[in-house]
Amino acid sequence: MSRERVSLVLAAGASTRMKSKKSKLLHNVLGRPAIYWALDQARWFSDRIVVVVGHQRDELMKVVADYHLDVDIKFATQTEQKGTAHAVQSAFHEIEKWKLQDADVFIMGGDAFLLQRETLEEFSRVHQTTGSVLSLMTAVLDDAGAYGRIIRNERGQIERIVEAKEASRAELAVREMNAGFYCADWNFLRETLQSVSNSNRSKEFYLTDLVSLARSQNRLVQTLTIPYQESLGINTQEDLALVASIFQKRVNSYWMSIGTEMLSPSTVWIDADVELGQGVCLEPGVILKGQTKIYSDARIGAYSVIENSEIGRSSVVEAYSHIKEARVGAENKIGPYARLRPGAILDSEVHVGNFVEIKKSHLGEGAKANHLSYVGDSTIGKRCNIGAGTITCNYDGFHKYETVLGDGVFVGSNSSLVAPVTIGSGAIIGAGSVITKDVDSNAIALERSDQRELKGAAEKFRQRKKREH
Ligand code: UD1
Ligand code: CA
Repeated sequence: MSRERVSLVLAAGASTRMKSKKSKLLHNVLGRPAIYWALDQARWFSDRIVVVVGHQRDELMKVVADYHLDVDIKFATQTEQKGTAHAVQSAFHEIEKWKLQDADVFIMGGDAFLLQRETLEEFSRVHQTTGSVLSLMTAVLDDAGAYGRIIRNERGQIERIVEAKEASRAELAVREMNAGFYCADWNFLRETLQSVSNSNRSKEFYLTDLVSLARSQNRLVQTLTIPYQESLGINTQEDLALVASIFQKRVNSYWMSIGTEMLSPSTVWIDADVELGQGVCLEPGVILKGQTKIYSDARIGAYSVIENSEIGRSSVVEAYSHIKEARVGAENKIGPYARLRPGAILDSEVHVGNFVEIKKSHLGEGAKANHLSYVGDSTIGKRCNIGAGTITCNYDGFHKYETVLGDGVFVGSNSSLVAPVTIGSGAIIGAGSVITKDVDSNAIALERSDQRELKGAAEKFRQRKKREH
């Protein structure tokens, strides 16, 4: 009969070495809070999870609730952070609610979440087949820094773990570190954890002391050595950057394996929830955030940032464009230097050129705004041409108003459309006009004073200036 299982995520600690007020587990890694990555690992082991919270408890609990995982998650509160063993102990009364007999408890620090699923599966296999009361993962680093060191006897068996803070110089030279993932027999854990003391330099109850306690009872402790890329945790800002770069590599390799073109993958950041169609090309420095979706054969130009947006099939976004909460249809040409703000909805074959800002506006099929414009709170018909420098004056300092253009409207350059205003289909607006009244379909509206011309006046003006000097 297979044993019952529980996963335990320790997440009560502060971000002391990160020098951040925010819990480590609330830091963002590829568009998701770190706790989501940790929970994904925890649920590979079991759909019963206890999360130990303390520092920023309410914030963490809310973020976890927002994840809507269909697993049984319980929270245990560790009011004072007295160390990892104490954190595990704080979870006991929650674990007991499941009334388990023979069970394995997977314990993870919560701040290390690079583990791959196959590694965790191998780990559970090793733990079960060797019948050890405690198994743990280790990794080998050139410099194991602040991680706990694995101390083995002459036969190569693990004897104990010494925390870096407590280690002698010789122990610090050990390159094998404790990755902070454990699998423990529930009964062993219950009986032995109370023997962990805090008589050490930092007066903390170290979970890692379980190893020497098990050995002193002559119980078997098993280790599995994993690739160091799966062992790293976030303890400092530099760690966070390193961990993020490992996820970046994994995500980018996946997209390249299904055909995404990316010549400089180390400069491209794709959040975990982004979706890419077939044949997408991402130029260097592209950042795709949130729930962004890029459809097939689209190309995103260098250093563009796209967040929670959709880019349609075969569209091109040229370099340095910024797109947020917008929907771009198929075969559009956007940028360079375009800005699409929330609520910009572009049908197919729309062109939006340099220094054009579009907010909360719908542009019909084939519409063009190629240079230096602001289009806000507007509905722009099919094939309209918005001339360079056109501005929709949508705000009077108190309220926002709408601009509506029918199909095929031609707006001459440097026009101001003072909202609320409606311009009928096929109308033409003369360049430089300030349009304050509605315009009929197929009319020409012109608002500008007549041009005067003084023959030879320029030459006379220059002569006069010369005489004055
Ligand atoms: C721990 C291990 C170390 C290992 C490393 C791997 C101990 C004593 N040391 O060190 O051997 O190499 O992980 O990443 O376990 N936490 C609580 N309550 C507490 C203390 C910590 O919930 O009272 C949580 C933290 O929020 C964190 C996790 O436990 O998510 C690990 O604690 P941390 O202080 O980061 O331990 P390390 O020093 O990294
Ligand atoms: Ca840690």
